[in-house]
Amino acid sequence: MRAVDIIEKKKHAESLSKEEIEFIISGYTKDEIPDYQMSAFLMTIYFNGMNEDEIAYLTESFVNSGDQVDLSPIKGIKVDKHSTGGVGDKISLIVLPLVAGAGVPVAKMSGRGLGHTGGTIDKLESIEGFRTELTSEEFINNVNKYKMAIVGQTANLTPADKKIYALRDVTSTIDSIPLIASSIMSKKIASGADAIVLDVKMGSGAFMKTIEEAEKLAKTMVGIGKNLNRNTVAVITNMDQPLGNQVGNSNEVKEAIKVLAGNGSEDETTIALTIASHMCVLGGAFDDFDTAYKSLKETIDSGKAIEKLKELILIQGGNPEVVDNPDLLPGAKNSYDVLAEKDGYVFEIDAESVGISAMLLGAGRRTKDDKIDYGAGITLKKKIGDSVKKGETICTLMTNLDEYDDAIERIQKAYVISNEKPKTKPYIYNIIK
Ligand code: URA
Repeated sequence: MRAVDIIEKKKHAESLSKEEIEFIISGYTKDEIPDYQMSAFLMTIYFNGMNEDEIAYLTESFVNSGDQVDLSPIKGIKVDKHSTGGVGDKISLIVLPLVAGAGVPVAKMSGRGLGHTGGTIDKLESIEGFRTELTSEEFINNVNKYKMAIVGQTANLTPADKKIYALRDVTSTIDSIPLIASSIMSKKIASGADAIVLDVKMGSGAFMKTIEEAEKLAKTMVGIGKNLNRNTVAVITNMDQPLGNQVGNSNEVKEAIKVLAGNGSEDETTIALTIASHMCVLGGAFDDFDTAYKSLKETIDSGKAIEKLKELILIQGGNPEVVDNPDLLPGAKNSYDVLAEKDGYVFEIDAESVGISAMLLGAGRRTKDDKIDYGAGITLKKKIGDSVKKGETICTLMTNLDEYDDAIERIQKAYVISNEKPKTKPYIYNIIK
């Protein structure tokens, strides 16, 4: 078999066999196929797409390129969730204790933030002492005993995807549905999930800008799940602006605490309960979505959900007192109020610019070796649709840096104030099963 013949076939939009896809992916991972041939291959996929079988083969090749986590010592159906990426997205922090509290095991591997998006692992590390590296034994034992554990992603998970993702980034082939879908699903499958709930973000702050694109990506990922025997549900959610009111690591932990304590923002509470309910149905804890939603809401109202978060923090070595006293979380010495320049309504908040501004304040990494300032972040005092008066605070920046004009400039551009009141959009657009 030769890589050039496989590229030629895809150039003419012919379908590839499992062997051909495995050959080109494993050859590239082992450095036997050069970047220039893989770049050409990715571009043929970008233009000609792939059918359902090819996408499943591609996903399997990514999974087979590295280690696979064996969760078989954990009893029950292991359900995972994944978000396609957003700003202020602390939904994983909320659903983990909620789903575990309903008795469904969650053995979670999460990532760190890079660029304008945050990572669940960084957020949890803002809690003093919280360990995101556990031995496999601790990880398995915690899930069996407490139904929950969370760790950073192991180094050798889907190395083919890692290498190809870096190449896609510099060859303008990121925004291809077969490539995004196989990349995301391969990581979930390699990390051992039996069932998966996907939070597909849609809107100005997401990869998918329209409902048509988001539904196509969601259907493709659900199709991969079916093909590879993983029950998968995709929830398409709004990412026209950051979720909730807090962006930044300790800020987002504080806001997750509020949701679990029953005082959260409506968007985050609705999205977290929806995702957690689908996870619980897939995990067999409830027969239907409505019963699951009602029951999980009761665990919030009764105080059981917040107790489960305290337990998670305790069993992973963190200080659970942060739950009752969030001021124990890292703070920032400087704050700056951004003021409305005119009367009107908040018409737009560009999520990506908010994420970049938070990163410039120290909450994120420009490169993967940067150190994070856990106390840095942004509190959004006004969100889309709110009315504002000239001179009123629309958001507050927090940082331990002394110079942060670039962050102020970014956030000022993120807010658009208009005389026109924008149309209200739903938090959840569609569910694809
Ligand atoms: N997230 C991923 O993991 N892969 C993609 O291709 C896009 C988003």
